Amino acid sequence: MFVALLLVLGGAACSDDDDDDPAGPRRDAGGGTASDGGPGTGSDGGGTVTPTDLPCEVAELLAAQCTTCHGATPSAGAPMALVSAADLARPSFSDPTRSMAAVAVDRMRSTTAPMPPAPAAMVEPTAIGAFEAWVAASMPAGSCVVNDPFAVPPTCTSGATWNFGNLESPLMRPGHACITCHTAMGEGPRPPLTLAGTVYPTGHEPDDCNGSSAASSGASVEVTDASGQLFRMMPNAAGNFFAQGAVTFPITARVVSSAGVRAMAMPVSSGDCNSCHTGAGAMGAPGRIVLP
Ligand code: HEC
Ligand code: HEC
Ligand code: HEC
Repeated sequence: MFVALLLVLGGAACSDDDDDDPAGPRRDAGGGTASDGGPGTGSDGGGTVTPTDLPCEVAELLAAQCTTCHGATPSAGAPMALVSAADLARPSFSDPTRSMAAVAVDRMRSTTAPMPPAPAAMVEPTAIGAFEAWVAASMPAGSCVVNDPFAVPPTCTSGATWNFGNLESPLMRPGHACITCHTAMGEGPRPPLTLAGTVYPTGHEPDDCNGSSAASSGASVEVTDASGQLFRMMPNAAGNFFAQGAVTFPITARVVSSAGVRAMAMPVSSGDCNSCHTGAGAMGAPGRIVLP
């Protein structure tokens, strides 16, 4: 019974099981379903809202690409928070004659010392331009309410849990460290995954909880390896994404949808995304891989 039901689930996610499994890896540079979601669908209904005293073009950029490190409690070696107007108006450490915001513009454009600290995570030029225009206008206050998926307490947003143990399926064990388990089990029929993980709507979802599919969120996961090869993966109905084939480490990663981008700034040398992106977050990761 369980097997029959599982095949139905698998069948719903895959139109062609043999060669190119649409529920799993995609290595093309084409559009796929990544742009199917409208702007309003990007958060999948998850996340929580945090009021700020900044306009949205500033607050949303910071929340998406800076506050992983420059949060209210700075982490990963970042020397200061970047969450409020006061944080941005403060004199910079490196050049106290200028505001943190003015130095931030330079650092976002820098090719030698970029912020975020990896060229692959670079902010879109139009977003930098909007931030710069705000600085040039003497940083007028705003009241943007930003979506902060990491401020949400642990919850299974989808309400759907994987209950089939290690029964083989592309939808299996969302949230778990896929490659760690596949490797620990040694030789077998299971595929030798080189990149794998799960995308969620909020930052601290429990293991075995289904995440967000590309079909519902329009989001894809893009990994760029050290040789410049791009892997684009579409999260399946469980939110799981994965790829097979040679990967040259270290890698950078980002989640992209019409709602924006969430990028990993520091390159990592493992493709087992959920080993760091646990519910609580391990090895410095803020928690789950979340939708923009
Ligand atoms: C992965 C963590 C990380 C992310 C993400 C990140 N930063 Fe940083 N930031 C750092 C660290 C570490 C430093 C201190 C070392 C340095 O200056 O390079 C720093 C320093 C800075 C400084 C220099 C402060 C000064 O007084 O000179 C600015 C400005 C800055 N970050 C802005 C940003 C902005 C804007 C973003 C988002 C677009 C961002 N950072 C994203 C880690 C991060
Ligand atoms: C606790 C161990 C464990 C974890 C965690 C795990 N797997 Fe598996 N996986 C297995 C086993 C066992 C099989 C069955 C095949 C075998 O025995 O080799 C399998 C098979 C698969 C298959 C082949 C399915 C098919 O229909 O051919 C895929 C794809 C897969 N896993 C993806 C994942 C993904 C993605 C994750 C993480 C989100 C994951 N697995 C997490 C143990 C695990
Ligand atoms: C060795 C641990 C580790 C592994 C493996 C890892 N990450 Fe990360 N990830 C981090 C850390 C630490 C951060 C926070 C600092 C940064 O942005 O670089 C992060 C941040 C991120 C972010 C941005 C977080 C935010 O603010 O939303 C995304 C997206 C991301 N990782 C995706 C991935 C994907 C996709 C994979 C697998 C291909 C992966 N990560 C593998 C440690 C890891």
